[in-house]
Amino acid sequence: MRMPEGFLWGGALAANQCEGAWQEDGKGLSQQDVMPKGVRGPITEEPTSDNLKLIGNDFYHRYSEDIGLLAEMGFKAFRFSIAWSRIFPLGTEEAPNEAGLQFYDKVIDTCLSYGIQPIITLSHYEIPLAVCRCYDGFRSRETIRLFRKFAGVCIRRYHDRVKMFLTFNEINVTLLSPLLGAGVLTPKENLTMQDRYQTAHHQLVASAYAVMDAHKIDPTVKIGCMAASAPRYPRTCAPEDVMASMLSQHELDYFIHVQACGTYPYYAQKLWRDHDVKLVWGEEDAEVLKNTVDFISFSYYNSKVVAKDESQYDTSAGNLLRGLRNPYVEYTQYDYPIDPEGLRYILNYLYDHFGKPLLIAENGIGQQETLKEVNGVLTVEDDDRINYLSKHIKAVEEAVEDGVDVLGYLAWGPIDCVSAASAEITKRYGFVYVDRQQDGSGSLKRYRKKSFEWYRKVIASNGESL
Ligand code: BG6
Repeated sequence: MRMPEGFLWGGALAANQCEGAWQEDGKGLSQQDVMPKGVRGPITEEPTSDNLKLIGNDFYHRYSEDIGLLAEMGFKAFRFSIAWSRIFPLGTEEAPNEAGLQFYDKVIDTCLSYGIQPIITLSHYEIPLAVCRCYDGFRSRETIRLFRKFAGVCIRRYHDRVKMFLTFNEINVTLLSPLLGAGVLTPKENLTMQDRYQTAHHQLVASAYAVMDAHKIDPTVKIGCMAASAPRYPRTCAPEDVMASMLSQHELDYFIHVQACGTYPYYAQKLWRDHDVKLVWGEEDAEVLKNTVDFISFSYYNSKVVAKDESQYDTSAGNLLRGLRNPYVEYTQYDYPIDPEGLRYILNYLYDHFGKPLLIAENGIGQQETLKEVNGVLTVEDDDRINYLSKHIKAVEEAVEDGVDVLGYLAWGPIDCVSAASAEITKRYGFVYVDRQQDGSGSLKRYRKKSFEWYRKVIASNGESL
């Protein structure tokens, strides 16, 4: 089927995973510069050469060529994030770093020159390291003020050309990984649930300030939230498993509810009681939270199976949202469940619960791939990706037929980049292969994969040719 007119076909990248140029043009350090193994290893005192994010895929120097490639595929929208530490190297300065702002001017203008709509994520797993060190990231209320200043500067600077912003990438990940999501350097094992929920509260308030300010700066700007989604399925139809899956679903809904409805959901009280959490509220917080988002965006990679007693079952892999093994679905090379139907399910679920337009901000399959010569051209025959994406896009089309208001579909990592969870460059999501290997070697040259032409046709046919 063809998608509605104006459907935003495209892809998404994050500054810390692609830009590199970690100390160019006045950029400060971020927590990512000292996370060489992502969330799967310890942080380092200083940046180390095994941290592949320091160079990324070199988007900072190759953005023009890269956006040209996205344009060749016919992208209508490109989501990228702003490295907070480029704009405020320490986070605490009064004036922004002009060179950092100019870099994103160039990225935006290049997108617009091709008719690609830029979509900006204000913070994608990236917080100035000085803010992490001084304030333990969003554990401190002070970071709300610092984020608000940063968000205000970006929205004021770009709103004439950028009409869609997202506040925090996968804000719900803060509870699972306070370091990745909220720049909290204190090891997770030393944090109480009080610490974690309080940190998330600060981030939710910071997000609501950005929404409030964006609407004041330019009422034509649309600003959304972003959460990591995974529909929860009960392991069996035993009522206790069904109940366990519903309660697990609340972990996602909790965040979206605050940002979409302006208050905590009814079940928050019990959740806090169970975890011995007594949220500390700032005087303005309740009022500020009433600034709700214009749309809801989310990432979708897989669904998650839940049971009341999980100890007796095998778990499957997954980036951050792992569940029990699902015998009814296939698995990727990385052992992640492949569940296109789950995308149709979550689209219906979120639209039914929150009634706001939805944007699929990320979806894709990470694979180990090698270049090979086909008819004299170096490429990757990524049929698994084509298969995965076409089934997921079909599921989006079905959701649209169901009546869900879907704004667009953004594939994750259209140009290979460093992975977030494990900081590998060899876990590739792209339509474009980047010659960079795990030991850091490689020319950084770009090569079109087989999926490049496939996605071009999908977009050209507005979703008809899958
Ligand atoms: C999402 C993140 O969770 O998943 C991205 O928003 C990330 O930053 C993507 O890259 C894929 O995960 P990974 O760990 O395979 O890169």
